[in-house]
Amino acid sequence: MSTETLLAVDDLHVFYGASHVLHGVSLEAGTEPVAIVGRNGMGKTTLCKAVMGLVPARSGSIQVRGRAVTGLRPYQIARTGLGYVPQGRRVFPSLSVEEHLLLTARTRGRWTIERIYEIFPRLAERRSNGGGALSGGEQQMLAIARALLLNPSLLIMDEPTEGLAPVVVNQVTEILKAIRSEGVGLVLVEQNFAVATAVAERLLVMMNGTVALETTASALSRDEDLQRRYLGVSSHAH
Ligand SMILES: Nc1ncnc2c1ncn2[C@@H]1O[C@H](COP(=O)(O)OP(=O)(O)OP(=O)(O)O)[C@@H](O)[C@H]1O
Ligand SMILES: [Mg+2]
Repeated sequence: MSTETLLAVDDLHVFYGASHVLHGVSLEAGTEPVAIVGRNGMGKTTLCKAVMGLVPARSGSIQVRGRAVTGLRPYQIARTGLGYVPQGRRVFPSLSVEEHLLLTARTRGRWTIERIYEIFPRLAERRSNGGGALSGGEQQMLAIARALLLNPSLLIMDEPTEGLAPVVVNQVTEILKAIRSEGVGLVLVEQNFAVATAVAERLLVMMNGTVALETTASALSRDEDLQRRYLGVSSHAH
């Protein structure tokens, strides 16, 4: 049985001025995690932003649980249960970890600050540190924690391991697996092939503003030719 479709994007076109960046993207995501891979500039972030209502769709449709959200404001889209962790960590330098979490926390729902501190012991240790005094990995954990506190049914994450040291990449990967096992849907944009395939079996490859290939982690892992063609890298290159 397939899981419930939480997000359905159909034939989405997005422009920046005259520049046509998304050329008819279609995808579906449910509670089974899906990773979106693809080289730089292929439109991955633009897709995330369009889904969250941060850039307008020129045409096509975006549905959350069968309800059209195209044209809604970002806060309205967030309320339908879509969480978003944008590329690059946006934390406030002058707010402490705890203040960030308190600003976001809701009184109801599964994810509470206590649960966050259980899953992210590092954040518990750093709870009084200012955002500006956190390492890159800690900032990323805080960004993920904030998104979870809104109790999303589906979390869209844009390159959560970008720029992190290998040991921290592994920590974030474990956190993504923990979120997955909580039944939160994940759309993970990830150029780190090892992370993408560790978290999601379903893989979408974006190329030039479309989903050029839908495949599985096991199939792509076996096929170095395909990796070179679509990703420009091989998983053995690093
Ligand atoms: N605000 C913008 N205005 C104009 N063009 C943009 C804007 N943001 C992105 N682009 C262009 O749109 C294309 C897709 O960019 P996007 O950021 O979606 O790619 P990406 O796949 O997320 O890349 P990366 O892997 O480097 O994060 C690129 O050619 C980029 O230069
Ligand atoms: Mg991007």
